Amino acid sequence: MTVKDRVDKVAKGAREKMRIVVAGGTGVVGTKVAEKLRLAGHDVVAASRRTGVNLYTRDGLQEALEGAQVVVDCCNSVYTDYAGALDFFETETLNLLTLGAAAGVRHHVVLSLVGTDKLGQANGSYFEAKAAQERLVAESGVPYSIIRSTQFFEFVRAIADSATEAQVTRVAEALVQPIAAADAADAVARTATGDPLMSAIEVAGPDQFRLGDLVSLELRWSRDPREVVAHAEGEYFGSRLQPHDLLPVADARLYWSHFTDWLDQRERTS
Ligand SMILES: NC(=O)c1ccc[n+]([C@@H]2O[C@H](COP(=O)([O-])OP(=O)(O)OC[C@H]3O[C@@H](n4cnc5c(N)ncnc54)[C@H](OP(=O)(O)O)[C@@H]3O)[C@@H](O)[C@H]2O)c1
Repeated sequence: MTVKDRVDKVAKGAREKMRIVVAGGTGVVGTKVAEKLRLAGHDVVAASRRTGVNLYTRDGLQEALEGAQVVVDCCNSVYTDYAGALDFFETETLNLLTLGAAAGVRHHVVLSLVGTDKLGQANGSYFEAKAAQERLVAESGVPYSIIRSTQFFEFVRAIADSATEAQVTRVAEALVQPIAAADAADAVARTATGDPLMSAIEVAGPDQFRLGDLVSLELRWSRDPREVVAHAEGEYFGSRLQPHDLLPVADARLYWSHFTDWLDQRERTS
């Protein structure tokens, strides 16, 4: 293919209006993905229980997928334990893949987590459930893209809450490279409008932190007096971590927003 052919192909892709179903399009990242795709001129259906679509039971799903070319899965399980998360992700993913294929979907995009490859075989964790979801998508025969993201800035408070007992927050001694949900959404939206990657890419923010320092920053900024203690035996949503388990691969796509700027902005606008 000549350079001109490639430029024409990208320009045509940018102009083509598609019907895109964003599963979980009302969640933290899904809302932003849906917004970005709408701004780019696409016909977007945000599919979640709030909009009358249950991805687990299939209620309203066939109607939502009618005429869709692309499915973007940004939904999340309310269960973070392995069994609950596995049941949810396997069921909703199979529902989206089968009803999507029947509706003519030609690209299935799923948002996953950095670390699923390292922690995906480990001991019944949320990561293992996400790894199973990735495998289903990759083995489905439907053209696909997997985007593995690091922790969202918006999720740091939930990390603190999940690790707190009696006002002490005990976190694993691990390194993290969090990303703004808006930046992760940018990666997902761009991928959704491109050709299927048939593989996984990883995205992350620009700065590395010790998990304990990141959680301390979040708590300090919100004047939360909880004490943060890091220790080697600390767990992260059911996984015992090695220090580098949550870091992205060397060729990950890095975004621009810094956590402390985001905290500043949040304080100014709240
Ligand atoms: N949070 C992070 O830091 C992070 C980092 C990397 C990757 N991820 C991945 O990103 C994805 C989204 O995470 P998030 O934090 O944005 O999640 P979230 O804010 O909890 O949003 C979850 C979405 O799923 C929908 N949903 C849940 N159960 C549903 C059901 N039965 N039927 C239809 N919709 C359902 C919710 O809408 P309703 O309640 O209206 O149904 C909501 O729109 C997850 O797969 C997660 O693994 C998250």
